[in-house]
Amino acid sequence: MPRPRRGKSLPRSAAAEVTSHPRGARRQLPGGMDARRFLRDYWQKRALLIRAAFPAAELTYDRADLFSLARNPDVESRLVLERAGDYPWQVQHGPFSAARMRRLPASHWSLLVQGVNFHWPRAAALLEEFSFIPNWRVDDLMVSYASDHGSVGPHLDSYDVFLLQAAGRRRWRISSSRYQESDLIPGLDLRILGNFRHSQEWLLEPGDMLYLPPGIAHHGIAVGESITCSIGFRAPSSSELLGALLDSQRINEFRIEDPGLGLQAHPGEITAHQRTLLRRLLRDALPDDEALDRWLGRQLTLLPPSVPSPAHGRALAAPAFLARLKRGKSLIRAVPARTAFTRARSGGIHLFINGAEFELPGRSAALAAQITGPGPIRWKPGRSAASRREGSLLLSLHRAGLLQFSD
Ligand code: SIN
Ligand code: CO
Repeated sequence: MPRPRRGKSLPRSAAAEVTSHPRGARRQLPGGMDARRFLRDYWQKRALLIRAAFPAAELTYDRADLFSLARNPDVESRLVLERAGDYPWQVQHGPFSAARMRRLPASHWSLLVQGVNFHWPRAAALLEEFSFIPNWRVDDLMVSYASDHGSVGPHLDSYDVFLLQAAGRRRWRISSSRYQESDLIPGLDLRILGNFRHSQEWLLEPGDMLYLPPGIAHHGIAVGESITCSIGFRAPSSSELLGALLDSQRINEFRIEDPGLGLQAHPGEITAHQRTLLRRLLRDALPDDEALDRWLGRQLTLLPPSVPSPAHGRALAAPAFLARLKRGKSLIRAVPARTAFTRARSGGIHLFINGAEFELPGRSAALAAQITGPGPIRWKPGRSAASRREGSLLLSLHRAGLLQFSD
């Protein structure tokens, strides 16, 4: 389903525990496939069905929780009404009151709730199981509830997605044909393919998961009531990044100057020399690599505009904070969080959380990896200056509400 443009924790299974790498990316997919094999053979290449990727009992998503999230005006939700709207495939945007949801018929509609990981810690924990893909490529977790026969129609997406069946059953059909703009039914709220012919189909049960690379036409139809988690990735385009760079006013502003302008034979000609000047003006507008990398880190970790940052934490005094860590207490990222880090050419580390930037010395790379990786952050204070610096970073992240103690 195309994502709209603008933007009780999950108990980890025994299998997932084994797949975790203490300080880095998950080495296995949910269900056990080796992550290197997945990246080599499937990522951005072909579809993959994984049966029993998660124990069904761990996927505790229910309709009542989802409907109440869709009442929240800060949450992006949509209703897709195949038959019950004013016209076929009508899309309505939330928030949706309980009374509105009660008026819906028994079949042929879906509720899609975007960015659930920014609101529910268990959804954020679920996303961590996908950390074999870099954080900055992860978009969000969308959860959809479909009534019997509910669907968003056959369509193409321009991003990779894992479709995890959380409750009920859904029949997924995919096509090996390549579709184009001209195959879309004109005039609908959704980009639906008019001539979709499937080449494969599977009935997904709770815990089953289907990976689809971009551009594979697919159609998921609920068989009875169904809840699907869609782990969506993003692949920023040049126009999105350039647009954001322009909006952030980080480009170098120059204006054409030509005091040596000579008389030209034809005023209509943009001469080779003038074209060189204009091209240079555009290319020089980009910040240097270091500044661009830092902007990218901030930009790619921004929360969607509607999602508020976590509230500030309890202002613990430094000794009390450090004493807790010394006793072995661990920290976790607060929800919502988008995190990343870069290694600068100078050797230093730039850590990014929710669009904010923190600088660390190169020797603190392991801490940056923990803060931005899956699982809790385990750190013990030491006596060195480097350790004191790390401790004060952790304290300020805790005070800013970005990290919290796990219990
Ligand atoms: C999709 O087809 O991309 C997901 C649709 C859904 O969850 O309803
Ligand atoms: Co889709």
